[in-house]
Amino acid sequence: MATKIIIDTDPGIDDAIAICMAINSPSISVLGLTSVFGNTYGELTAYNALRLAELSDRTVIPVARGSDVPLFIPIQNLGTLVHGDDGMGNSNLPTPKGEFLSLSAAEFIAKTVHENPGEVTLLTLGPLTNLALALRIYPELSNQIKKVVIMGGVVAHPGNMTPVSEANIARDPHAAEIVFSSGLPIVLVGLDVTEKTIITNSLLQEVFKAKSPAVELLKKIIPAYQHFFAQYYSMNGSFFTHDPSAMAYIFRPNLFKTRKTSIFVETEGRCSGQTVADWNNKLEKRTAVEVCLKVNSRGVLDVLKNTLTT
Ligand code: RIB
Ligand code: CA
Repeated sequence: MATKIIIDTDPGIDDAIAICMAINSPSISVLGLTSVFGNTYGELTAYNALRLAELSDRTVIPVARGSDVPLFIPIQNLGTLVHGDDGMGNSNLPTPKGEFLSLSAAEFIAKTVHENPGEVTLLTLGPLTNLALALRIYPELSNQIKKVVIMGGVVAHPGNMTPVSEANIARDPHAAEIVFSSGLPIVLVGLDVTEKTIITNSLLQEVFKAKSPAVELLKKIIPAYQHFFAQYYSMNGSFFTHDPSAMAYIFRPNLFKTRKTSIFVETEGRCSGQTVADWNNKLEKRTAVEVCLKVNSRGVLDVLKNTLTT
């Protein structure tokens, strides 16, 4: 049976790659996309989510708009330098035809999980605001969501927002702390593994030979992402595999080596957004998170290529 997932996302160029990997794969059933601010303003990520949903040629994928702002802190450090002002590499894409659901992202997540108890995996590719809001209103979700796979955080590697924080967690640390203290079964696909897997330009050119609306869209938006990594990381056409790695976990969890530990999120000061792994149980007990520490990068890139080209 296909894996039922909801993708909570702030598209975002790497979000777009991850979503394209899933939408036409028969082993995955995308029950919906929920949008959140992050890589750009919430209104723009929401419209990008609609555009991505419309690439599906198998089913109609509903899109629910989510939060435009973090729970408590002001909006800051959007990802426009990386993803362009529009979140899609300033590629001037046409207006999407579809409409948003009347439900908010948090309501959609709750409704879908209530209708499919124990069956829905939530893949989060942006700040955790929508999930935190859903948990605040419907705390029983922590027993009803099958698994939450989070692209975010970092435990033993430098951060990409601050020296100790990853962008998705840093943009709404209070939401992340609510999620990590909720008792949900969580897998953390953080920078510890996403920066170990690198998409090269030659792999991309292989992908770009495929003829599909999804690949046509990726061809338009990825050059801006390559440009950013060339300029700021001297990666010369290559880039890190953030959101696509989390999607690859959904397809093939065995590509990752994980270790369980409680995770605490700093919410104030210089270390705000840090995901602290309590390896030796020094802090209060909470449900352990499966933290990805090692990755079969070749395997992740194979999943990426196969899902985008077949
Ligand atoms: O730190 C990488 C993450 O931040 C990715 O999800 C990217 O899309 C941005 O949201
Ligand atoms: Ca993202």
